[in-house]
Order: sequence, then C-alpha cells, then structure tokens
Amino acid sequence: MRSYCSKGRFALAGLLAAAVVLVAGTVSAQEAELMNSDCVKCHQAVPQQIEEKGMAHKTAVSCLDCHVGHPPEVADNIPACAMCHAGAPHYDEIENCAQCHANPHTPLELTLDGELKAECLTCHNPIGQQLTANPSAHTEVSCNFCHADTHGYIPECTVCHETHSKEIAAQDCSACHQAHKPLEVAYGDQLPSVFCAACHDTAYSELNATPTKHQTLACVYCHQDEHKMVPLCSDCHGVPHAPGIHEKFPTCGECHNTAHDLNNWPGQAK
Ligand code: HEC
Ligand code: HEC
Ligand code: HEC
Ligand code: HEC
Ligand code: HEC
Ligand code: HEC
Ligand code: HEC
Ligand code: HEC
Ligand code: HEC
Ligand code: HEC
Ligand code: HEC
Ligand code: HEC
Repeated sequence: MRSYCSKGRFALAGLLAAAVVLVAGTVSAQEAELMNSDCVKCHQAVPQQIEEKGMAHKTAVSCLDCHVGHPPEVADNIPACAMCHAGAPHYDEIENCAQCHANPHTPLELTLDGELKAECLTCHNPIGQQLTANPSAHTEVSCNFCHADTHGYIPECTVCHETHSKEIAAQDCSACHQAHKPLEVAYGDQLPSVFCAACHDTAYSELNATPTKHQTLACVYCHQDEHKMVPLCSDCHGVPHAPGIHEKFPTCGECHNTAHDLNNWPGQAK
C-alpha cells in the first residue's frame, strides 16, 4: 500500500487534493472533499476485499462512515467497532473483536482459535445453561473443542466415540442422546428394540423367544421415554384376577415370571 508514496509523506495532502481534483474536475483543492470513489486510486487491496466479502460493511456503510477524515489531517482514522456496535452482550462483553473478526473489510471471515466458550455464550446463552444444568464431561470442554474451525460446524458423535453396536449408526445417536446433556438418555416411541440390545442382549433374546403376546411389543412400548424407566404390570393390566388371588400372591411374577419371559400356562395363545 505504501509503494505509491515511496517518495515520502511530504506530499500526501497535495496528492489527496490532486486526486480529488482529478475526479471533481473544476473544484479547487481547498474546497475538495475526499469521496468514497477516491479511495481506490491509492488503496487497491481494501476496496477489492470489500467488493468480494464486505457483507454488510459493503452494503450498509461506506469507507468514509468508518474512516472519518484522513491522514495527515487526522492522526487516526481507524474506527472502534463500538462506534456502531453496542448494546448487546456480544459487543459489550468482549474485548478484542479482531481475535475472531480479523479483517473488518471481510467481517464474516472468522478465525476461531483458542478455547472459546464465554464468547460463544454472548449469543448462545441457553446452550451454556443446558450444559451447566446437566454436568458431564462435555460441560468441561470448550465449545470449539467440538464446533471447530468454522462457525456452525457440527461434528458427528462418532468423530470422538465408538458406537454401541453395528446396528446403531452415527445418525442414530441423537435417538437417545443430546450433545449438550449426553448423560440424559431419552428416546421416542419408535425406537427399534435392537438398539437396546446393544447393552441388554438377555432381555432382547428372552423377549424374542417368548411365545406370549409380549413378544410383539417393543422395549420402548413398556420402558417409555427415559432410560431405566420400569413399568408396573398393573400400569397396563390393572388387577386382572379375583381379589383373593392378588391378596395371596401380591407379586405377578410369582405366577408369571418376568415380563420378558412370561410363564406358559394352560390355554395361553401360542
Ligand atoms: C492520494 C492517495 C490516497 C487517497 C485518495 C486515499 N488515501 Fe488513504 N492513505 C494514503 C496514504 C499515503 C496513507 C498512509 C498515511 C500514513 O500512514 O500517514 C493512507 C492511509 C490510510 C489509512 C490508514 C490510516 C492509519 O491510521 O493507519 C486509512 C484507513 C485510509 N488511508 C483510508 C482511506 C480512505 C477510506 C480513502 C477514501 C475515502 C482514502 N484512504 C483515500 C493515501 C491515500
Ligand atoms: C465497518 C468499518 C470499515 C469500513 C466500511 C471500511 N473500513 Fe477500512 N478499516 C477499518 C478498520 C477497523 C481498520 C483497522 C484494521 C486493523 O487494525 O487491522 C481499517 C483499516 C483500513 C486501512 C489500513 C489497513 C489496511 O488494511 O490497509 C485502509 C487503507 C482502509 N481501511 C481502507 C478502507 C477503504 C478504502 C474502505 C472502503 C472501500 C474501507 N476501509 C472501509 C474499518 C472499516
Ligand atoms: C460506521 C459503523 C460501523 C463500524 C465502525 C463497524 N461496523 Fe460492523 N456493521 C455496521 C452495520 C451498519 C452493519 C449491518 C447491521 C448490523 O449487523 O448491525 C454491520 C455489520 C457487521 C457484521 C455482520 C456482517 C453481515 O453482513 O452480517 C459484522 C461481523 C461486523 N459488522 C463486525 C464489525 C467489527 C468487528 C467492527 C470493528 C472492527 C465493525 N463491525 C465496525 C456498521 C459498522
Ligand atoms: C470468539 C469469536 C468472536 C469475537 C471475539 C467477536 N465475535 Fe462477533 N461474531 C462471532 C460469530 C461466530 C458471529 C456469528 C457469525 C454468523 O452469524 O455467521 C459474530 C457475529 C457478529 C456480528 C453480526 C451481527 C450479529 O450480532 O450477529 C457483529 C456485528 C459482530 N459479530 C461484532 C463483533 C464485535 C463488535 C466484537 C467485539 C466487541 C466481536 N464481534 C467479537 C464471533 C466473534
Ligand atoms: C454474534 C452471535 C453469535 C456468536 C458470537 C456465535 N454464534 Fe453460533 N450462531 C449464531 C446464529 C444467529 C446462528 C443461527 C444461524 C443459522 O441459523 O444459520 C448460529 C448457529 C450456530 C450453530 C448451529 C448451526 C446449525 O447448523 O444449526 C452452531 C453449532 C454454533 N452457532 C456454534 C457457535 C460457537 C461454537 C460459537 C463460538 C465460537 C458461536 N456459535 C458464536 C450466532 C452466534
Ligand atoms: C470432539 C469430540 C467429541 C464429540 C464430537 C462428542 N464427544 Fe462425547 N465426550 C468427549 C470427551 C473428550 C468425553 C470425556 C471422555 C470420555 O468419556 O471419552 C466425552 C464424554 C461423553 C459421555 C460421557 C459423559 C460423562 O460425563 O461421563 C457421553 C455420554 C458422550 N460423550 C456422548 C456423546 C454424544 C452422544 C455425542 C454426539 C451428540 C458426543 N459425545 C460427541 C468428546 C466428544
Ligand atoms: C462434546 C461436543 C460439543 C460441545 C462441547 C458443544 N457442542 Fe454444540 N453441538 C454438538 C453436537 C454434536 C450438536 C448437534 C446436535 C446434537 O447432537 O444434540 C451440537 C449442536 C449445537 C447447536 C445447534 C443446535 C442447538 O442445540 O441449538 C449450537 C448452536 C451449539 N451446538 C452451540 C454450542 C455452544 C455455544 C457450545 C459451548 C457452550 C457447544 N455447542 C458445546 C456438540 C458439542
Ligand atoms: C438406544 C439408546 C442409545 C443410542 C441409540 C445410543 N446410546 Fe450411547 N448410551 C446409551 C445409554 C443408555 C448409555 C448409558 C450407559 C450407562 O449408564 O452406563 C449410553 C452411554 C454412552 C456413552 C458413555 C460411555 C459409555 O459407553 O457408557 C457414550 C460415549 C455414548 N453413549 C455414545 C453414543 C454414540 C456415539 C452413539 C451413536 C453412535 C450412541 N451413544 C447411541 C444409550 C444409547
Ligand atoms: C450403552 C448401553 C445401554 C443401552 C444402549 C441401553 N441400556 Fe439400559 N442399562 C444400561 C446400564 C449400564 C444399566 C444399569 C445396569 C445395572 O444397574 O445393573 C441399564 C439399566 C436399564 C434398566 C434397568 C433399570 C433398573 O432400575 O433396574 C432398564 C429398564 C433399561 N436399562 C432399559 C433399556 C432400554 C429399554 C433400552 C433401549 C431404549 C436401553 N436400556 C438401552 C445400559 C444400556
Ligand atoms: C406397557 C404395557 C404392558 C406392561 C407394563 C405389561 N404388559 Fe402384559 N401385555 C401387554 C399387552 C399389550 C399384551 C397383549 C394384550 C393382547 O393382545 O390381548 C399383554 C399381554 C399379557 C399377557 C397375556 C399373554 C398372552 O400371550 O396371551 C400376560 C399374562 C401379561 N401380559 C402379563 C404381564 C405381566 C405379568 C406384566 C408385568 C411383569 C406385564 N404383563 C406388563 C402390555 C403390557
Ligand atoms: C411388556 C412390557 C415390557 C417389554 C416389551 C420389555 N420390558 Fe423390560 N421390563 C418390563 C418390566 C415390567 C420389568 C420389571 C421386571 C419384571 O417384572 O419383569 C422389566 C425389566 C427390565 C430390565 C431390568 C431387569 C432385567 O431384566 O435386567 C431391563 C434391563 C429391561 N427390562 C430391558 C428391556 C429391553 C431391552 C426390552 C426390549 C428388548 C424390554 N425390556 C422389553 C417390561 C417390559
Ligand atoms: C396365582 C397366580 C397368578 C398371579 C399372582 C397372577 N396371575 Fe395372571 N394369570 C394367571 C393364570 C393361571 C392365568 C391364565 C388363566 C386365565 O386365563 O385366567 C393368568 C392370566 C393373566 C393374563 C391374561 C389374561 C387374559 O385374559 O388373556 C394377564 C394379563 C395377567 N394374568 C396379568 C396378571 C397381572 C398383571 C398380575 C399381577 C397384578 C397377575 N396376572 C397375577 C395366574 C396368576
């Protein structure tokens, strides 16, 4: 940028005026005002950057909105971001804007280095609250430990973890887990029983083998919504037998064994 003024700074004011005269034609140097269209005559790189990636700094503001005045008339014409961006946590709680917005002329080209969390929470506060309310190993790491390099990048769980079984693919993790509260295992009513089989092969094989009508039921039909939820037989069956029988044998399992492996009895459907 300095190459054109290799002769020194002595003539900058004159150069500026001359440049303006060139454009304005008849206007005298004294009255001349520096226009946005003049900048490119001496600064090629910045107008090019703004043209290509200026985003709102191209469309919503101009060079002179930010660079008020020009050396040597003013000592410093570099604006503080706070001149225009204030009044939100993202602006007021962060010191060094350039840490991420390295070039104000390409404001959305972000550098996301180091361990970032407080900075992300200036916009994603609910996620911070969720991580804190559900303590896990994920609460202890920075946001960009997972959301690395590019804003909005989302990794698959399997980048860092093995699956529980070959039936559970990377896109299935979210059927039971959420990244920001990974220890809260919860699921919907369509979850395939074979996913549970990854850790409960006995229950799975017993249920598959029973000749009773429970065989047709999914694990999550009975164990609803949350991991380790255990239903009572009476949730579904009420009190099916004569009161005297239940009084004498208060536990259904005394006659029926377990839900996964109901005892056979005479007259039972095959
Ligand atoms: C005639 C050539 C010329 C024109 C036209 C010109 N500049 Fe400059 N500009 C310079 C020179 C030379 C410097 C270096 C001055 C210095 O460092 O003292 C400079 C420095 C700057 C700086 C850096 C100031 C700093 O403190 O580091 C900014 C910002 C700037 N110009 C913006 C603009 C803008 C915006 C325009 C259009 C409105 C513009 N210039 C038009 C020659 C020009
Ligand atoms: C949204 C505000 C903003 C706008 C719009 C803007 N600039 Fe800048 N510009 C800055 C800031 C802030 C810096 C200081 C960057 C730094 O410290 O690295 C800067 C630095 C500069 C510099 C000196 C450093 C360099 O990169 O060469 C020049 C020259 C410059 N701007 C020219 C321009 C020109 C020409 C335009 C219009 C095409 C323009 N700027 C538009 C905010 C702006
Ligand atoms: C002269 C006023 C002005 C200055 C100074 C300024 N900006 Fe902006 N900036 C704007 C306006 C206006 C917008 C568009 C409206 C908005 O998003 O607030 C904008 C938008 C942005 C955007 C979003 C771009 C988009 O297209 O969505 C970023 C990022 C940004 N500014 C960062 C900065 C940073 C970092 C600085 C300091 C280096 C800075 N701005 C200095 C006026 C300014
Ligand atoms: C830790 C990185 C980081 C720092 C530091 C940072 N920003 Fe941002 N900024 C971002 C990210 C990420 C976005 C969202 C970009 C997107 O939506 O694509 C953003 C968006 C913006 C926007 C667009 C409008 C909005 O609110 O969504 C503006 C304006 C902005 N930043 C200004 C600033 C200012 C001013 C500072 C300093 C006070 C600053 N930023 C510091 C990462 C940062
Ligand atoms: C200035 C505000 C701002 C900052 C700072 C910010 N974000 Fe965002 N972020 C947003 C907005 C707005 C969206 C929604 C954008 C969309 O829907 O495309 C978003 C979306 C996301 C997404 C989801 C993308 C998707 O596809 O759903 C992730 C992940 C994300 N941000 C992570 C981060 C991380 C990590 C940080 C810190 C390095 C961060 N953000 C900093 C404003 C911000
Ligand atoms: C960038 C790497 C990374 C990604 C992506 C990731 N994790 Fe983790 N996760 C870790 C680390 C590191 C730990 C702590 C050490 C360990 O248990 O392996 C952890 C721990 C866990 C734990 C145990 C938590 C505790 O406090 O004991 C669960 C459950 C978990 N992750 C599930 C997931 C799920 C589900 C996903 C996808 C939604 C996921 N993880 C994505 C790195 C990651
Ligand atoms: C252990 C890895 C990991 C950590 C740490 C992590 N995330 Fe995420 N994040 C993910 C994954 C994976 C998803 C995709 C959704 C899911 O599986 O629950 C996601 C989704 C998101 C989304 C988009 C969906 C939504 O819930 O709004 C945003 C925004 C986001 N994360 C921001 C953050 C922020 C901010 C932090 C730090 C406070 C953070 N994340 C920490 C892995 C992580
Ligand atoms: C059917 C529900 C279900 C699905 C689908 C599922 N998980 Fe899990 N996961 C669990 C349960 C339940 C635990 C808790 C086991 C315990 O308490 O020890 C767990 C624990 C974990 C843990 C903690 C360490 C461990 O192995 O015990 C990690 C890491 C994990 N899951 C990752 C994943 C990943 C990665 C996927 C997708 C490939 C996934 N999970 C899919 C139910 C599921
Ligand atoms: C990643 C392995 C894993 C997966 C997948 C998994 N579980 Fe578990 N489950 C466990 C562990 C570990 C325990 C605790 C065992 C213990 O306490 O002896 C457990 C316990 C249980 C319990 C017993 C709770 C109690 O109080 O005795 C039930 C019921 C249960 N799981 C149902 C399911 C169902 C239904 C699924 C499928 C939606 C499933 N599990 C998926 C690992 C898993
Ligand atoms: C979440 C609901 C649910 C729970 C909990 C449940 N069952 Fe069932 N049970 C069913 C359904 C549905 C059927 C099939 C009814 C039909 O088709 O007529 C059934 C059928 C049966 C039958 C008849 C089997 C056959 O093949 O004719 C017996 C016996 C039975 N259950 C006993 C039990 C016992 C004992 C428990 C507790 C250990 C239990 N059930 C828990 C829903 C449940
Ligand atoms: C008909 C309802 C029903 C179905 C279907 C069912 N369970 Fe259960 N399960 C129960 C009941 C009720 C208990 C409590 C023990 C008992 O009384 O049998 C239980 C207990 C358990 C336990 C803890 C005790 C043990 O046996 O280890 C686990 C784990 C479990 N079930 C997993 C599963 C899995 C995995 C599936 C699917 C393959 C499944 N269950 C299908 C009703 C059911
Ligand atoms: C004393 C043994 C005994 C006890 C205790 C017992 N049952 Fe039964 N149950 C049977 C016998 C025998 C049958 C098959 C004969 C019949 O059809 O009545 C049966 C049949 C059933 C049936 C199938 C009825 C039908 O109409 O298809 C259900 C459901 C059932 N029991 C549920 C339960 C539940 C729930 C409990 C606990 C609250 C329980 N039983 C306690 C002996 C018992």
